[in-house]
Amino acid sequence: MLAMALVLLASTAAYAQEASSAHHCFQNASYWARVFEQPERAKWQKPDEVVQALGLKPGETVIDIGAGTGYFTRRFARAVAPNGRAIGVDIEPGMVAYMKADAKKLKVANYQAHLAQPDDPQVAPREADVIFFCDVLHHVDNRVAYLRKLTSALKPDGRIAVVDFQKTAPLGPPTAEKISQDEMIAEFKRAGYRLVGKHTFLPYQYFLEFAPESPSAQNKNGRGATEHGPSD
Ligand SMILES: C[S@@+](CC[C@H](N)C(=O)[O-])C[C@H]1O[C@@H](n2cnc3c(N)ncnc32)[C@H](O)[C@@H]1O
Repeated sequence: MLAMALVLLASTAAYAQEASSAHHCFQNASYWARVFEQPERAKWQKPDEVVQALGLKPGETVIDIGAGTGYFTRRFARAVAPNGRAIGVDIEPGMVAYMKADAKKLKVANYQAHLAQPDDPQVAPREADVIFFCDVLHHVDNRVAYLRKLTSALKPDGRIAVVDFQKTAPLGPPTAEKISQDEMIAEFKRAGYRLVGKHTFLPYQYFLEFAPESPSAQNKNGRGATEHGPSD
């Protein structure tokens, strides 16, 4: 038990150290893969629970922006198979190449990847059922303008899901670079979105879902803000 706790402590400390700059250079994909893909991450990142909480359906399209090594992308691909697509988007060519090789190695045909620009994820209009960001938005400049542009990439019932570190988390970027949950919600509101979901089962991160405020893009089912705790 003690040994397990020490391993967890060492690896989470490494994650904190490695992911600690707002404009970090993520050029060396194999180096970052050792950080992002470390098995201990699953203990606090709970990736399968995150995917399950999104309630994805087969046939949907998920765009994972700032996907890195495809930690979530490959899981999204399985959740929307066989006809849906999961597309990992990153600004680092090394990360995109890593994801393409990963998809080939795993033989997951609906797991794709493409290169983007820092101010433009290059998503086609009405392409996405879900746009997902995990530990990315603090790297994005002019966030409100960036998020506003994403509205057109969503299908009419589309949503944006955000997982990011709480200010008080012992992991992730330095406190000054973290975006608090309240700041994140305020920025999405300024960009024309409303909060439609809040999941509270992650120990170090908040997990929020947003939909465009505009009636034409609102969820036809009248999705209201819902909160899901650890027991959901
Ligand atoms: C901390 S990593 C998170 C990787 C992945 N989401 C995960 O949870 O394992 C941040 C990633 O965002 C990418 N990134 C940074 N700024 C970006 C931007 N403006 N657009 C798209 N990706 C970006 C980086 O290259 C890096 O791969």
